[in-house]
Amino acid sequence: MEHRDTKHLEDMMSQTSGKADVLTVTSGKGGVGKTNIAANLAICLAASGKKVVLLDADLGLGNLDLIMNINSRANLSHVVSGQKTLQDIIHVGPAGVEVICGGSGIEDMANLNKFQRKRLLDELDKLQDDADIIIIDTGAGISSSVLSFCQAADHVLVITTPEPSAMTDAYAMIKVLASKRYDGRVSLVVNMANSVAEGKRTYRQIADVAMRFLSMPVYEAGVICRTDKLTAAVRKRIPVVLAHPRSRITSSLAAMAARLSRSSGVKDKEGFFRRVVNLFF
Ligand SMILES: Nc1ncnc2c1ncn2[C@@H]1O[C@H](COP(=O)(O)OP(=O)(O)O)[C@@H](O)[C@H]1O
Ligand SMILES: [Mg+2]
Repeated sequence: MEHRDTKHLEDMMSQTSGKADVLTVTSGKGGVGKTNIAANLAICLAASGKKVVLLDADLGLGNLDLIMNINSRANLSHVVSGQKTLQDIIHVGPAGVEVICGGSGIEDMANLNKFQRKRLLDELDKLQDDADIIIIDTGAGISSSVLSFCQAADHVLVITTPEPSAMTDAYAMIKVLASKRYDGRVSLVVNMANSVAEGKRTYRQIADVAMRFLSMPVYEAGVICRTDKLTAAVRKRIPVVLAHPRSRITSSLAAMAARLSRSSGVKDKEGFFRRVVNLFF
C-alpha cells in the first residue's frame, strides 16, 4: 500500500487535541480555600498524566508560592518589562506542574506596543498549545481582573463554604457571570463542610437559586470537609495531597480532579490569554 501524506491527519488531530482547557478558580469571599484547591487539583491532574500549568492571578494576597513551596516572586510583569523571559518565570512544582505567578503582568501589557504585545501573546499561546489544562487561581472579590479571567475560561470553579457570607458572595459571583452572559461551564465546590450532607445541602441551595433566578445551571464539583490535615500541610508548605496521600481530603480532591478532567472545554479555541487581554483593553 502506498504511503499517504499524514499532514491532513496531523492537522485534524492537532485541532481536536488543540489548546489546553482553562479552569478559573474563584469565590467572591477570601479565605475559603481557592489557592489550596487550585494547587491540589493541579497536582492530582498532573499525577494522572496531564500537562498542567498553574497560574497565580491573585494580585493582592497571592500565596500559591507558599503552598507550592516556591521561593521566587519573579512574575509575568517582569516578562512584560523585559527583565525575564517566560521560561525564566516557570517553576516546575510537584508532579511536574508548571507554576507561573501572574503579578500585574496582564494589566502591564497595556504599556507594550503592538509588536511587543503580539510577541508575548504568541509565547503565551504556545504555553497553552503545549498544556492540557491551565488552572488559574484568582483573588477574592469581583474585580474586573478576576472577571476577565473567569469570562475567558472554559470552566469556572466557584468555591464556597457553608457559611452564609461565603454563600452570598459565591452567589453574587455566579450572578455577575450570568449578567455577562458567560457561556462556559460553572461548577461549585463546597469546602470546609462539617459533613458531606451539609456540603450537599449548601450546593443544592445555591444551584437551585441560580437556576430559578438566573436560569444558570451550576454543576456540582464536590464537597470537601474541614480537616486539620489541610492546616497542618499548609504550615509545612506541602500540598495536602502529597502530605497526606491516604486521607479523606485527598480522595475528595482526586475524585474532583477526575470529574473535572472529563468535562472538557466548550469555548472556541482562540487563545485564552488573547481573550483575557481583549477583555481588559
Ligand atoms: N478543607 C479545609 N479544612 C480546614 N481548613 C481549611 C480547608 N480549606 C481551607 N482551609 C483553611 O483556610 C485557609 C485559607 O485557604 P486558601 O486556600 O489560602 O484560601 P483562599 O485562596 O480562598 O484565600 C488555609 O490556610 C486553611 O487554614
Ligand atoms: Mg488564595
